Amino acid sequence: MRQRLVAGNWKMNGSLASARALVGAILPGVGGLKSEVAVCPPYVYLETVGALLKGSPVALGAQNVAREDPGAFTGEIAAPMLRDLGCKYVIVGHSERRALYGESDALVAEKYWRALREGLVPILCVGELLEERDAGHTEQVVARQLDAVLTRSGVADLGRGVVAYEPVWAIGTGRTATPEQAQEVHAFIRGRIAGHDPSVAAGLRILYGGSVKGSNAVGLFAMPDIDGGLIGGASLLAEDFLAICRAAG
Ligand code: 13P
Repeated sequence: MRQRLVAGNWKMNGSLASARALVGAILPGVGGLKSEVAVCPPYVYLETVGALLKGSPVALGAQNVAREDPGAFTGEIAAPMLRDLGCKYVIVGHSERRALYGESDALVAEKYWRALREGLVPILCVGELLEERDAGHTEQVVARQLDAVLTRSGVADLGRGVVAYEPVWAIGTGRTATPEQAQEVHAFIRGRIAGHDPSVAAGLRILYGGSVKGSNAVGLFAMPDIDGGLIGGASLLAEDFLAICRAAG
C-alpha cells in the first residue's frame, strides 16, 4: 500500500513572518493523519521552517537544487546544503523552472540524479502544456520527460523518488484536471514504468498537482493511481492546506 503524500509548494511567496505563521497554523492540524505531509518553502526560509518542524510529522522539502557538487556556481544551492538544513524532499523539473528558466529534460534528469546521490528524495514534475494536450500529445510529452530520468538514473532510482503529474494548463489557473483526466495520465505513467519494472511501478507514489483544493481533493485522491498532491496556491493558507491533507486521510 502506497502512503499518500501531500506536499505544499510555496513557490516564491511569503516572508519570514508569514512562513513562521503558516507552519505554526499547519502543525496543530496534522496529528493523526495516515498520509505524509511536506512543505517546500523558499530556500531562504528552509532553516527557520525546518527548526519549527523538528519533532513533528511534517517533512521539509526544497523547490529546486543545483545539478553540480558544491563549488564556484554563484547563486546556486547544492544538494548537500539542503540535506544540512534537514530537507527530505526536493522538487525537480517543476513546469515553472522548465518554462521560465529553460530547464531541459536532460538538466532535470541530472538534478534528479544528483538529489538522490546526496540522500534527498526528488519529486519529479512532469506535465503537458495546453497546446500539447489539445494536439493529443500528452502521453508523448510525459513519456519524454520520464524517459530522460529513466535513461540517466535507471528504473530503480525512479522508484526511490516521487513523480508529480502537473498539467501546465491546470497550474494556478483554477482549472483543475478532472479526476478521470488525471487518472488517465497517472495510469499511463505507472504503466510506462511497469514496462521497465512492475514492482517499482506498483510502489511508486504519483502525485497530482494543478489547482488542487479541499473541494476537489477528495475526488482526485479517490482515483486508484493518484497518491496525493503537490499543492501550490492552496498550500499558502493553513486551513486550505489542512483540508487537502484531511482529504488524503
Ligand atoms: P496550484 O496549486 O497553485 O495550481 O500550483 C500547483 C503547482 O504548481 C504545485 O507545484
